[in-house]
Amino acid sequence: MAPLPASPSSISTASPRSLLHSNSSEWNVVVQRNIKSSLLLLLVLSTVFVFSVVYSSQGFGTAATREANPLVPGEDLADEQPIVVADEVMWQQNRARLQPSPCHPQTRRLREHLNNQEIKVGTQVEEKCDMSMGKWVREPKGPVYTNQTCPTLPDFKNCQKYGKDPGHLFWRWQPDGCDLPRFAPARFLDVVRGKRLAFIGDSLARNQMESLLCLLSQAETPTDVYRDAFDKFRTWHFPAHNFTLMAMWTEFYAHAEPVIDADGKPTASFDIHLGRLNANWTSRLPGLDYAVLSGGNWFFRVNYLWEGGRRVGCVNCREANLTDFGIAYAVRRVVRAALEAVARCEDCNRRGLVAFMRTYTPDHFEHGSWFSGGYCNRTRPLEEGEVSSEHIGWELRRVQREEVERARETTTADGSGVRFGVLDVTKAMMLRADGHPGGHYDKRWVRNASDCLHWCLPGPVDMWNDVLQQRIVEIAPPPVVR
Ligand SMILES: *[C@@H]1O[C@H](CO)[C@@H](O)[C@H](O)[C@H]1NC(C)=O
Ligand SMILES: *[C@@H]1O[C@H](CO)[C@@H](O)[C@H](O)[C@H]1NC(C)=O
Ligand SMILES: *[C@@H]1O[C@H](CO)[C@@H](O)[C@H](O)[C@H]1NC(C)=O
Ligand SMILES: *[C@@H]1O[C@H](CO)[C@@H](O)[C@H](O)[C@H]1NC(C)=O
Ligand SMILES: *[C@@H]1O[C@H](CO)[C@@H](O)[C@H](O)[C@H]1NC(C)=O
Ligand SMILES: *[C@@H]1O[C@H](CO)[C@@H](O)[C@H](O)[C@H]1NC(C)=O
Repeated sequence: MAPLPASPSSISTASPRSLLHSNSSEWNVVVQRNIKSSLLLLLVLSTVFVFSVVYSSQGFGTAATREANPLVPGEDLADEQPIVVADEVMWQQNRARLQPSPCHPQTRRLREHLNNQEIKVGTQVEEKCDMSMGKWVREPKGPVYTNQTCPTLPDFKNCQKYGKDPGHLFWRWQPDGCDLPRFAPARFLDVVRGKRLAFIGDSLARNQMESLLCLLSQAETPTDVYRDAFDKFRTWHFPAHNFTLMAMWTEFYAHAEPVIDADGKPTASFDIHLGRLNANWTSRLPGLDYAVLSGGNWFFRVNYLWEGGRRVGCVNCREANLTDFGIAYAVRRVVRAALEAVARCEDCNRRGLVAFMRTYTPDHFEHGSWFSGGYCNRTRPLEEGEVSSEHIGWELRRVQREEVERARETTTADGSGVRFGVLDVTKAMMLRADGHPGGHYDKRWVRNASDCLHWCLPGPVDMWNDVLQQRIVEIAPPPVVR
């Protein structure tokens, strides 16, 4: 068993920002300097928060919002920290790449673009309705739970407690061709009685687990069963329904190790071994009835790709004699390998495991990033025209859906007992620039950071579980052959 690439003792390695243009070790120094003072405090007071913020990578995904905002900065750069300059470089680059404007042609282009992207999904996990396209409409009822009624709500996602505008709570996703039923905690628990469900991925996978815990706790209070030393693997149990809910940590699915710099310190970059999966999650597949895989945000860093013990290329590296394969390629490779591993898992076949891919969701930083003054203080969803059709999120979504389709074809041909489905939330979340904590968290932990990647609870992320509920009740319960 090789070690997981990151540990709490190497916070500087896990800087959330990937940099396209700046030397990564130089940047690390900057980040270390920036956060070193608060590092000890951070560790002592909230490992969890560190995981949430620092272990989440994010990329230049917010281009859409930045683009759409007419009040973009261009000044104030000279006296900023280098990290801001680097962010700004990225931002400028995105601005050059993306040219959206909130007008009708843009909306039309987005529609056309997405329609062209639609992939015929098979009938393996029957999808009665495509819930991926739609719009957010006002919902006066508000969320299923509140910060008063969810006993497991993590403090750093309790945005209401820290003064976030409640406007983001009163929306519901309206798919184009059908309705998405409101989450029904008791009904969900009945359907999953005796089952085991795992969210496999990074901190956004955990975000979905936290949402599901809050939703289900309206019907039954869960028991905290297991937490590993680094809080990367969690297990909860709903005793009355014998339902087990898990989070399993993996940034890349593949085996990956941080790149070590000249001083022997881990950098923000990873060596990703494409041919080798991380056994930490694959070894926990047996026994699962449902798995929700997700990921993508960690690929925005400078990462190196290895195959057969050889470094074959990189992502975002800009090194003269190293091929940059691009984020989408790297994501495709590891998603394919991950789905193949799920399809091969013998116990999963026996149990009739249903594996979902939860599609990519972007951050919504404006004018900066985590530690450089970025923010996300919108109080209502974006208009469709404010989201760029060129956003890389669409490409990652397409890759993820194509790989699920490929896995479906293969497993159908093989007569495999594993079934695959998609929770396609990309478009819905692209629009929810108003759903992140931003600066609404306990400032005693980290004074000057902003989280525009994770999602407030309650909040739009609860919709992921509305979709999960719908998919799970649609499919016939898998036959259990022991
Ligand atoms: C699995 O996770 C544990 C705890 O997080 C870690 O100590 C171990 O090194 C990991 N193993 C692999 C193969 O990543
Ligand atoms: C819940 O949110 C309200 C604001 O809506 C806040 O005043 C209160 O302190 C929060 N309660 C808890 C237990 O977090
Ligand atoms: C609870 O569910 C597990 C599978 O998740 C099963 O092995 C076990 O027998 C169940 N326990 C009871 C008491 O039904
Ligand atoms: C390019 O490759 C050569 C020979 O393999 C190596 O010596 C050199 O350091 C490489 N340059 C960069 C920028 O990696
Ligand atoms: C917080 O970050 C902003 C932007 O980088 C900076 O202007 C400000 O001085 C910082 N405040 C503190 C207290 O560090
Ligand atoms: C969001 O924050 C920015 C910068 O602090 C501010 O200029 C803007 O007015 C804020 N917008 C809202 C809707 O609060």
